[in-house]
Amino acid sequence: MKRALITGVSGQDGAYLSRLLLQEGYEVYGAYRRSASPHDWRLRELGIHDAVRFVPIDLLEYSNIQSVIRQVRPSEIYNLAAQSFVATSFEQPLYTSDVDGLGVLRCLQVIRDVDPEIKFYQASTSEMFGQVQQVPQNERTPFHPRSPYGVAKLYAHWITVNYRESYGMHAVSGILFNHESPMRGLEFVTRKITTTLARIRHGSDEVLELGNTDARRDWGFAGDYVRGMWLMLQSPVADDFVLATGASHSVREFVQASADCLGFKLEWSGDGPTLAAHDRANGRVIVRVNPKFYRPAEVEHLTGDASKALQVLSWRSETSFQALVEMMARADYERVAAGRQLF
Ligand code: NAP
Ligand code: GDD
Repeated sequence: MKRALITGVSGQDGAYLSRLLLQEGYEVYGAYRRSASPHDWRLRELGIHDAVRFVPIDLLEYSNIQSVIRQVRPSEIYNLAAQSFVATSFEQPLYTSDVDGLGVLRCLQVIRDVDPEIKFYQASTSEMFGQVQQVPQNERTPFHPRSPYGVAKLYAHWITVNYRESYGMHAVSGILFNHESPMRGLEFVTRKITTTLARIRHGSDEVLELGNTDARRDWGFAGDYVRGMWLMLQSPVADDFVLATGASHSVREFVQASADCLGFKLEWSGDGPTLAAHDRANGRVIVRVNPKFYRPAEVEHLTGDASKALQVLSWRSETSFQALVEMMARADYERVAAGRQLF
């Protein structure tokens, strides 16, 4: 039986990857960081909480990472743990750099020390492309990160490549474009949109306040992307891969598609900071821009080219933009209808 250790098991990708690896017959060790209240709702919603063996890891603590890896002795490690919210990285740049940058070096150094045969997956990101140098972006596109998060992830990316080249370790980076799901954190724009619109649909008088609605992202479904992570570690040659859908949509398009799905008839007015949307049924303002959600530096447009992943791993994104929006909007509508916590 193969044994995998997943850091960041309580996050969106940690939950979907745990489910996939359990289906593939793995023994799954899920590394969580201690908090006052448990962050295990995703594993519970997917019905796999009791199948995962939990171990505590904080990426800031070398000795902790070392003792857990020594004790578990996994054949594969998926490093998904990170301070993953770009906006927060502008408020907490040092913390973000420590966890997302040096945290990865700590993992690699422990693997080198304990057992260099352990395969390692690093969660790299399209944020590294930032101010994009070409469209679409692939594995050869130059990087230009635009946030402390993107810069820290770029360090993590290159240190992973460096340990592979220096010590022959099977260490790979998946350069993943945005992937979403009903398990997405509430602060990310897609889930903010679907939860807020679901509450409004059920009678809340709040307004969906957004920042840059012109930003474009290549949004896929997280369930598809975790399969790509797994395939990367099954490949005989360690290498880096872009995972993306190849199509991009604006934040405004995401709002429109979610609103359509929930039966709103939106009427848009203005643009940029004056953009707003009314509900044609009653004239109520449903969406407006609040500049407090602007970022000091923005990533305007991401579109990925995943042809290498298709060629080498036979991986492709299976879920369309429309299907993703419907999945998320419906899930939040049903959660609100049932009075369930949105988390
Ligand atoms: P997520 O939902 O925010 O999950 C992040 C996980 O990291 C959580 O389990 C969190 O634990 C844990 N964590 C945070 N700080 C930690 C620390 N100091 N030590 C140990 N664990 C820590 O993120 P996600 O969307 O699943 O993304 C997974 C990974 O892929 C991240 O590295 C992210 O940067 C990267 N990525 C994501 C996307 C995307 O679109 N989703 C795209 C490209 C790359 P708590 O539950 O305790 O907070
Ligand atoms: N969160 C948020 N909230 N974003 C907003 C809002 C808002 O109210 N209004 C507009 N946006 C814009 C952001 O400025 C950004 O351009 C875009 O919506 C997407 O923001 P997020 O959903 O926060 O995601 P992200 O693209 O910054 O980062 C996510 O994807 C990266 C991969 O490209 C995260 O999952 C990162 O961890 C991941 O690496």
